[in-house]
Amino acid sequence: MSALREAFCADLERAASTRDLQDLRDRYLGRKRGRLVALLKTLAGAPPERRRALGQAANALKQEIEGELTARREAAEKRRGPAGAVDATLPGRAPALGHRHPLSLVREEMESIFSAIGFEILEGPEAEDDYHNFEALNMPAAHPARDMQDTLYLDGSIPAPGGGRPATLLRTHTSGMQIRYMETHEPPIRIIAPGLVYRRDTPDLTHSPMFQQVEGLLVGETVTMGDLKGTLEHFLRALFDDDTRVEFRPSFFPYTEPSTEVFITCVFCHGDGCAVCKQTGWIEILGAGMVHPAVFEAVGYDAERFSGWAFGIGIDRVALLKYRVDDIRRFYGNDLHLLEQFPS
Ligand code: DAH
Repeated sequence: MSALREAFCADLERAASTRDLQDLRDRYLGRKRGRLVALLKTLAGAPPERRRALGQAANALKQEIEGELTARREAAEKRRGPAGAVDATLPGRAPALGHRHPLSLVREEMESIFSAIGFEILEGPEAEDDYHNFEALNMPAAHPARDMQDTLYLDGSIPAPGGGRPATLLRTHTSGMQIRYMETHEPPIRIIAPGLVYRRDTPDLTHSPMFQQVEGLLVGETVTMGDLKGTLEHFLRALFDDDTRVEFRPSFFPYTEPSTEVFITCVFCHGDGCAVCKQTGWIEILGAGMVHPAVFEAVGYDAERFSGWAFGIGIDRVALLKYRVDDIRRFYGNDLHLLEQFPS
């Protein structure tokens, strides 16, 4: 009996919560499997002359246990205060923190690379007009890039042939920010403009009707293609890794001349050839070029005096490559399995 008492005292010592106290009550006083009940049962086999004394001792122990448990419970309740009050003695619970979105991480990385070399970061409207998205970028009315199949028009404002109300649309690229900035500023200019863009694409592994770009623009009096190449090489090595090789291939954009498509060595096979780079060892990463004189004209700059370069890069595409995500749609699906892998 005294062994039972000692066991109880030791257990009581360890009980930390009301839950523990309830467990103790079940373990010692429980009607079916309680240790005290088991003890009482063994008393039936004791010699009759001792049975009475043993029974009394067992009852006293039972009362003692009950008393201790009740006292402890009441003390805990007192500490907790009235129902619903905060128990200041409980250990704190760490608040659940959200995680950075991979697209935000890539965007911030791009921003910090460019702001370290003196570029200003700005944002502009996603609902854009035809003039800034197309016209001033040397894409006149019949230009194929304005095709309704690619562009999401707002308010049924699909442009009627022969003019009428100017069309409002969801910008199809961030390049309109070049126009918006030059309209209100004089060179020298060094800006990047990150933000969402929209296209009428059917979603698949590499297409989303909404995605993000960063536009870059630098304008001055003696700006050359060499500046463009040097800056983009620096940018892409900082963004991917130091041994990334960068290749400039001739291309066409209406708002740049010459234009280039920029490739980097495949981030998966480092140039050896794999399924992602279709065995070429290279991955196309951005479009760029020297600002077209027609663009300078549209914003009232003297194209003889000023020169500049521009580029546009897809944030989603970079995030897919950097984090080896296999489907662009995951970035927009609020998929916690993906998001929880990124830092808070
Ligand atoms: N606007 C192009 C696109 O959406 C990207 C681009 C290409 C931007 C060349 C530029 C440029 O500024 O010079 O694909």
